[in-house]
Amino acid sequence: MNHFQYRDGVLCAEDVPLTLLAEKVGTPFYCYSTATLARHYQVFAGALPKGALIAFSVKANGNQAVLKTLANLGAGADVVSGGELARALAAGIPANRIVFSGVGKTAAEMRAALDAGIYQFNVESEPELLALNAVALQMGKRAPVTLRINPDVDAKTHAKITTGTAETKFGIPFVHAREAFGEAATLPGIEIVGVDVHIGSQITNLEPFEQAFVRVGELVRMLRADGHNIARLDLGGGLGVPYVQDNAPPPDPAAYGAMVTRVTKDFGCTLSFEPGRLIAANAGVLVSQVIYIKRGDAKTFAIIDAGMNDLIRPALYDSHHEILAVKEPAPGSARPRYDVVGPVCETSDLFAAGRALPELKSGDLVAIMSAGAYGAVMASSYNARPPAPEVLVSGDEWGIVRPRQTYDDLIAQDHIPAWLGG
Ligand code: LLP
Repeated sequence: MNHFQYRDGVLCAEDVPLTLLAEKVGTPFYCYSTATLARHYQVFAGALPKGALIAFSVKANGNQAVLKTLANLGAGADVVSGGELARALAAGIPANRIVFSGVGKTAAEMRAALDAGIYQFNVESEPELLALNAVALQMGKRAPVTLRINPDVDAKTHAKITTGTAETKFGIPFVHAREAFGEAATLPGIEIVGVDVHIGSQITNLEPFEQAFVRVGELVRMLRADGHNIARLDLGGGLGVPYVQDNAPPPDPAAYGAMVTRVTKDFGCTLSFEPGRLIAANAGVLVSQVIYIKRGDAKTFAIIDAGMNDLIRPALYDSHHEILAVKEPAPGSARPRYDVVGPVCETSDLFAAGRALPELKSGDLVAIMSAGAYGAVMASSYNARPPAPEVLVSGDEWGIVRPRQTYDDLIAQDHIPAWLGG
């Protein structure tokens, strides 16, 4: 459930009409709903065993105001870079609620995380283990570590967001896990605390999760028999969200929580989770204005002022986003088909092909739904287009939480070297 609903014929974010924001902020812009973020966080937290750490995956949405909203609810953070670590700390997420994931942590990033005193490193390879050991010893510290195990389970999601099969770069292969834990135990800068697993994103079926968690359980038993202290399990993120209205909904957090509780009840471990999309996706929309309606030979194009530089998911993953007219259409009104495209000079700058939508005309506003996760964070300034600004709504209050950059801001990022007269 989200808080983007029609009221008096206008799509609103909580109590704020999107038409008002368009007037004040200009288009395109991202709009996030505090109540939706909070609801998703609370529903997820409420479904899980008590005491679990919910580390919001900052890669899904790293805006300071979004992180602060979640920090106020007690969320931790899952970070995958020094930049995300800095963002999480700056937003007030306590270091002891931060987990550091990712296959390519550098020594500098490890130092920053050890210095901050994070909850744990999710280590993904033996070379990373050795590097972390060296950094920790230099700093006179021991790094709390889980090893991320690749359980070789197919999450049955889009190939570009599958991470738990043997073909992907992620995690330590299940068959090498005992060996890797054995090696970790010999390293004085490493303190083994548990096991981590993450099999992919936008997973809409509980079965692959259960398979992976059961495999982790087998491993926990073996590792304990080998004498390791396995006190924590990080079960990753990945629970999918509904992108398509009226489609069978993905598993709800309650069903996921019940499965987790059942599968892990005998492990005696503290659990952590890294949800991103589940919390943020349906808490955000991208609002855009129709520039032209162009009648082609075979199709009608709605050319809007948001582009693939603002939201790259459809181009990159063929992902579906619902598109709503901000002015509520009259019941039973016509729904012609449009290719909804952006102004970027790429054929892949396509938000929806042949989509039945209310009759659109130049100047109309549309909302691209489910854009709160992997939207603004993946934006670029391709075609010298300043990425869409971000707005956060809470009840009838709203604030610009990332302003629109000007052309001067974009140009000022470049420097002309001395030999060119700079
Ligand atoms: N933990 C780890 C180790 C991850 O790699 C990811 C996502 C998450 C947690 C959060 O997963 P979530 O709960 O959001 O599914 N840009 C793509 C998604 C990439 C996901 C990468 N890893 C998209 O727009 O669909």
